Amino acid sequence: MPEDKDFTNKLILGDNLEALKGIEDNSIDLIYLDPPFFSNKTYEVIWGDEGEVRSFEDRFEGGIEHYIGWLYERVRLMYDKLKPTGSMFLHCDWHASANIRVEILDKIFGRNNFRNEIVWHYRRWTAPSNNLQKLHDMIFWYSKSDNYTFNPLFTDYTDGSVSRKKSGKLHRFKKGEEPLLVSDKTIDEKGVRENDVWQIPFIAPSAKERIGYPTQKPELLLERIIELASNEGDTVLDPFVGGGTTIAVADKLGRKWIGIDQSSMAIKVSDLRLKKQHDAFSQPYELILRKYDYDILRSSNAFEFESWIINKFGGIPNAKQRNDFGLDGRMSDNTPIQVKRSDNIGRNVVDNFLSAIRRQDEKLFEKNKKDGKIAGYIIAFSFGKGAVEEIARLKNKNSTIIKLVKVSDIVDYGKKPEVSLSADSIDKNEFEFTAKAKSEPGIDFYAWDFSHSEQNGFKPDVLFDKTGKQTKKFPDGEHQIAVEAVDREGISGTDKVKIEIKNQKK
Ligand SMILES: C[S@@+](CC[C@H](N)C(=O)[O-])C[C@H]1O[C@@H](n2cnc3c(N)ncnc32)[C@H](O)[C@@H]1O
Repeated sequence: MPEDKDFTNKLILGDNLEALKGIEDNSIDLIYLDPPFFSNKTYEVIWGDEGEVRSFEDRFEGGIEHYIGWLYERVRLMYDKLKPTGSMFLHCDWHASANIRVEILDKIFGRNNFRNEIVWHYRRWTAPSNNLQKLHDMIFWYSKSDNYTFNPLFTDYTDGSVSRKKSGKLHRFKKGEEPLLVSDKTIDEKGVRENDVWQIPFIAPSAKERIGYPTQKPELLLERIIELASNEGDTVLDPFVGGGTTIAVADKLGRKWIGIDQSSMAIKVSDLRLKKQHDAFSQPYELILRKYDYDILRSSNAFEFESWIINKFGGIPNAKQRNDFGLDGRMSDNTPIQVKRSDNIGRNVVDNFLSAIRRQDEKLFEKNKKDGKIAGYIIAFSFGKGAVEEIARLKNKNSTIIKLVKVSDIVDYGKKPEVSLSADSIDKNEFEFTAKAKSEPGIDFYAWDFSHSEQNGFKPDVLFDKTGKQTKKFPDGEHQIAVEAVDREGISGTDKVKIEIKNQKK
């Protein structure tokens, strides 16, 4: 696979309108989007956290025109992100498809760049009504130019009643349950060339790939789209990533990927889904939440943290770790910065900083003092009383202004939920597990790994549990069970228990 050293796969929490602005123009090979839309009967839409179902009209006051405007500005941005050889696949259904095609896609891509309308035909039970059953969605495929990536798809075929021998122009094959008539031209040694009507079942309630996300799409659907319009090493973007189907499939197929969703639940479910399928071929990825995880910041590489926080503060970090005076960076006007990656910074830090900045540039120090300007910044997680008092004293007695800056003034961070997991035996081989978790923003859901090992990391068997309680049977032996509690900011905490089931034979 071609390696791109500057790119890491990304899972981003946020409104895609904002998040898309951070993506380079002309950098994406394939965009698949499955925006929220009218659901079949009740004009409802799955919206935001908790897959919350709200009425379409609630969100889109002003009806369809408002909806089209909302989507138009996003698709317009996405268009800029596509490479000239790139394609977009927009998934929708009858509620808005006509408007989307004419008022958004034709306008942005141009009518001549319409490639196809793929019909996803599914089967599901619906109550009888005075109408034909609605059993398909559409996926509009537009490319940015005539020179687009296209890999023909083939479907397996089995010989039907007529033999495979060329008996005239038409051949009859069976594709699953359906007889097919195909001409010589569409037959290839790989199978029959796939057409634009795809019969793919809905995800069954018992399906292995089912993760419990309300609008989850089948992996096979995404496999086809990704194989059709991208190659290994290409970059796939899903700006409405939901339960993460697109990026999970992209990862398996060796594509690079970016997933965006405004719901922290969607992002964390996608994150856990990727962890679950993680193997030796998986690429690393970055999880970008609205808040950083305090523990991760505190335990990160010191130099990397210093450079990162100075950049976020708007300063210029040193190229190498600490300069001769123990300072970490400066502002553009040369005011020095020191970073302490800890809490409760004491007075000694202020004293040392003061002598360091004087030694480094006495002239600048005196000038700042004379002009009543800030002589230097100390950035830390928190400051003790001694440091705060010293700062006040310096200002009053020496007219020296040193500014203490908390990390939380620069970036938002949250603390991991505190989690405790207990196991109660309820039958010979059966246990009940209870997770108790606390976090400031509140707990959103739990994920469970019933055969946890440090070596494999957290690989959830249950991805999305609102209750914090699970019962499960185990074979004899030792088992480690791990739970992750995810809060409303998408930050998670974990706990584990070990159980042992002794030989139960009579
Ligand atoms: C129909 S679902 C996508 C389902 C996904 N294809 C899957 O297979 O799981 C639409 C998603 O769009 C997200 N969403 C809605 N508005 C958004 C916005 N402005 N920015 C980012 N995500 C948004 C919702 O949170 C929801 O998860």
